[in-house]
Amino acid sequence: MKLEWGAYKHFPYEKELALREISALIGKNIHFGDDGHVFADAKDVQNAQLLTYFASVSIEGQSHETLQQKLERSASGGSRRQSTRYSVHGLHEYRGKFNPQVCRALMNILGVPENGLLLDPFCGSGTTLVEAAHRGIRSVGTDLNPLAVFIANAKLNAMRTPAEHLIDALQRIVDRENAVGVPSEDNARHHYLCSWFEPDILAQIERLRVAIGFEGEHIASFFLVVASNLLREFSLQDPADLRIRRRPTANAKVVFSSSFEAASVEAIRRLRAAQDVLKPSRALGRAYLKDNRELSGLELPELADAAITSPPYATALPYIDTQRLSLVWLSLLHPKEISQVEADLTGSREISPQAKREALEALENNAAGLPNEEWELCVGLQSALTDSDGFRRKAVPTLLYRYFKQMRQTFRAVSSFVKPDAPFALIVGHNHTVLGGTRFDIDTPRHLVSLAHSVGWGTEEVTPLQAYQRFGLHSSNAVQAETLIVLRNRLPLR
Ligand SMILES: C[S@@+](CC[C@H](N)C(=O)[O-])C[C@H]1O[C@@H](n2cnc3c(N)ncnc32)[C@H](O)[C@@H]1O
Repeated sequence: MKLEWGAYKHFPYEKELALREISALIGKNIHFGDDGHVFADAKDVQNAQLLTYFASVSIEGQSHETLQQKLERSASGGSRRQSTRYSVHGLHEYRGKFNPQVCRALMNILGVPENGLLLDPFCGSGTTLVEAAHRGIRSVGTDLNPLAVFIANAKLNAMRTPAEHLIDALQRIVDRENAVGVPSEDNARHHYLCSWFEPDILAQIERLRVAIGFEGEHIASFFLVVASNLLREFSLQDPADLRIRRRPTANAKVVFSSSFEAASVEAIRRLRAAQDVLKPSRALGRAYLKDNRELSGLELPELADAAITSPPYATALPYIDTQRLSLVWLSLLHPKEISQVEADLTGSREISPQAKREALEALENNAAGLPNEEWELCVGLQSALTDSDGFRRKAVPTLLYRYFKQMRQTFRAVSSFVKPDAPFALIVGHNHTVLGGTRFDIDTPRHLVSLAHSVGWGTEEVTPLQAYQRFGLHSSNAVQAETLIVLRNRLPLR
């Protein structure tokens, strides 16, 4: 059997994952042809078609496109770039999104069975859950960001909704938009939105929301997500800035409703193309608004066969803050709740003065009982602080201590929701900080492994994923982007 690589240039780690997928799906007996193609001594075309990084499989003179190739082609036409926006993946921006191909490859490598159950405790906008559904695997995700949960469920629901229904609904929404009345509001939500949108733009956005609201829940959530993804561009927040920066005018040259219509048509086109490949309504997945440090109450049909996630880093991205317009517009958060929810996230940089005092005390006494290595790292950072460090830097050692404690709680909680011996894969980056003028590298993967061990997980592998500028000519500019950790649940069934 001859395996032909996908048309884009693969990172070294993608090639490595690709070979591991071959071993997991069709057997270990492979060799390389002069043209770089891979030959496998195998006959299982169906399994070979599940490979992530190959475009086709040829056997006995017949070529079969892989499922992944069909999906990617459906979104990007003949582009020679890796598509990450196929199916519903491109519905909404989300910071720290998983690369969908990595998710899919991991499911293959870990051997998650078709119709098995997969858990993503930091599911964000649902990349793992969507990829699981593409593979006929059931999934459950948790996230503390209500917008993440809303987006993830909108994607999963859209996959089960025939694209034709969405096309009809879009027409109804557009027809309705100029006829609907918007009830007047005098509340915190309205005042908040008034402060971030020019009056005529806000009127358009609100009319659209009312027009969408006539549709059933699944259809409405799809269009609300499409609209939400456009909000920042039409607001007084500078969309180019990760942090919130106000600009004098929204500078919008097009009307909101035209952008909404164009974005909806494109989103439905991609969905329809994916549905043509996958057939609608495959495996079920669902995201829950839940803190993964405390998963009791999460109802799973059974223990999960595996968990896959990309956790936040210490001093993580401001997931809530950057999305606050959407959170308030969709009534997912009251404006006053924004900073609290941000502070609740694992790895948050936000910490109240009182929480900071408590965290500092905990650090000094190792009140959380962290393993020595992690404790000593935080104590070392604390003692490296000098007067030249501003208040954000001064908080880093305590925030790191809190992050380690939180991640250990997550490891403990997840172990009760996956089967004994089940794998837990995490994609994690490195981190560094500068304190007292000195740079400190934080080997987050190594510390996460240590924390996981301390609550009963075993380690199967810690593999650096080598990447380089995908379109650069020289692999000499290789960088280690992230690390793959695979843990095994060593805890007996409880
Ligand atoms: C790196 S992002 C995950 C992105 C996701 N893989 C995707 O493709 O969209 C990390 C996520 O963890 C969430 N999070 C942080 N602390 C959490 C907690 N304690 N419980 C559940 N989710 C949390 C954040 O809201 C964020 O969505």
